[in-house]
Amino acid sequence: MSKSIGLSKDKNWWRQAAVYQIYPRSFADSNGDGIGDLKGVTSRIPYLQSLSIDAVWLSPFYPSALVDGGYDVDDYRNVDPKLGTLADFDEMLAELHKVGIRVYVDIVPNHSSNLHVWFKEAIASEPGSKARSRYLFRDGKGVNGELPPTDWVSHFAPSAWTHESAMGGKHNQWYMHWFAPEQPDFNWDNREVHDEFLKTLKFWADRGVDAFRIDVAHALKKDLSEPLRNLNVFEGLEERGAKGKGILADRDEVFAIYKEWRNLFNQYDPPRVAVAEANVHPERLPLYASTKTLGQSFDFRFIDTPFEATAYKESVQDALRLAAKNKSSCTWTLSNHDQIRHATKMGLNPAVDRRSWMLTDGTSHPLDKASGTQNALAASLFILALPGCTYMYQGEELGLHEVTDIPEDRIQDPQYLRNLKVDKGRDGCRVPLPWKKSGTSFGFGTGSAHLPQPNWFGDYSVEAEEKDSLSALSIYRKALEIRKGLVTEEKLKWHKTGNSSVLHFSRPNGWHCITNFRAAPIAIPKGELLISSHPLQGGKIAAGTTVWFKKEKK
Ligand code: NOJ
Repeated sequence: MSKSIGLSKDKNWWRQAAVYQIYPRSFADSNGDGIGDLKGVTSRIPYLQSLSIDAVWLSPFYPSALVDGGYDVDDYRNVDPKLGTLADFDEMLAELHKVGIRVYVDIVPNHSSNLHVWFKEAIASEPGSKARSRYLFRDGKGVNGELPPTDWVSHFAPSAWTHESAMGGKHNQWYMHWFAPEQPDFNWDNREVHDEFLKTLKFWADRGVDAFRIDVAHALKKDLSEPLRNLNVFEGLEERGAKGKGILADRDEVFAIYKEWRNLFNQYDPPRVAVAEANVHPERLPLYASTKTLGQSFDFRFIDTPFEATAYKESVQDALRLAAKNKSSCTWTLSNHDQIRHATKMGLNPAVDRRSWMLTDGTSHPLDKASGTQNALAASLFILALPGCTYMYQGEELGLHEVTDIPEDRIQDPQYLRNLKVDKGRDGCRVPLPWKKSGTSFGFGTGSAHLPQPNWFGDYSVEAEEKDSLSALSIYRKALEIRKGLVTEEKLKWHKTGNSSVLHFSRPNGWHCITNFRAAPIAIPKGELLISSHPLQGGKIAAGTTVWFKKEKK
């Protein structure tokens, strides 16, 4: 095991951290059953340490039937036996802490799974019972209650209501689920639900967990006043446009929950922290990211910002303006387990409709993998130089591309399976990581991989890239290592470039970052060159390249 350095004493460690997301089922498999596990994570700590990251965020590893990749939780205070035990968790946490890496766990408070003991009890109980009041059960409409109570739609099914008979219930009620029918929504108007989640947060914080990622943080509080209102609008607007007054999401009452959580977090030293996954209007993000509530909120704008100078600058400026509202730190992210890998997006003509392209298994339009990986690296170095915290997703350090041709009978994602097959879903970014150039599951484990790995995966493996000083992995490693010594005050200054396709900014300690998005090669200013995401061309910065350099302050 690597040398022990322990955790830093900095209470604000999270404000400008480099956080690496692990999707545990697809990271490393220690027992050859085809599913990644916690011992697998522990076995790869030297690799994580080689990335110079400050923290890892683990997507759910709790007991789950995996209807939604683990975001359907049966038991919030345990480990899925397929992934290990609580003792394995404690070992992993201790070993990560020894090498200075903190740990976020994923909390899923909007819904449980249908196999959670509370939901099983609810289905077996009478309408109006205490057990049913922990979820959202209602009578249906129509003469015999045969129609759902409202027009609410689900992310993974046409209706957000399922009749209880589908789950074995003997009465005539419907229950609400904003995601799959196997993910019933909790009733956050019930005090018992609040207490249960405080218990869960305390359980993990007491074990030493440093931080939490809060799933669908904007959806806990709903307008449940009777009669329930219909939405009558496309739900995307509901999420991003309602600004505090919607029916299903982003209601102002949700912050009372997070203030209560904050009181708990502040009882620890250092205080625990959380990042909200809140798919809301950007103006609302500071409310989730306040130091009186969760502390941080993902800002997903770079996931969809085209790789262009003007769009990138506008995004950064807007995010900094919002963060300044409550002195929160900015968060930057290009990928996660719900998104098409950004190297692929950046290698595809921006005019291509990606959803349709995925439905053709990525065959309807050509993908330029090399330029995709190159632009992705340039984008990564750009965001890593910004003030704030960067969240990375496993495999992006390899410049990995989306797997677009998973056969239909191997697809696991309810986004595809339940959504009338209009969306290929998210499995393509969740394919187990390639560690070796060849061999069984490319070194993921000694058995097969739970999602099929394509032949080209070996070219993007850790083994292949470690030997190449120009590979994505080598650039990431170097950038993250240098970044540790460069992180400074959360400020940024823009410099004129005289070129609409080039951005140049610096940080207060003389750390400069230049990105050439699409222009002809440009000269590099005087200073000490620290890193270039792509080799310089005749000493110049070519299109699709970011460089960092240091200038002594005058
Ligand atoms: C957001 C998670 O990131 C996603 O993977 C999941 O399907 C939904 N929340 C539901 O929990």
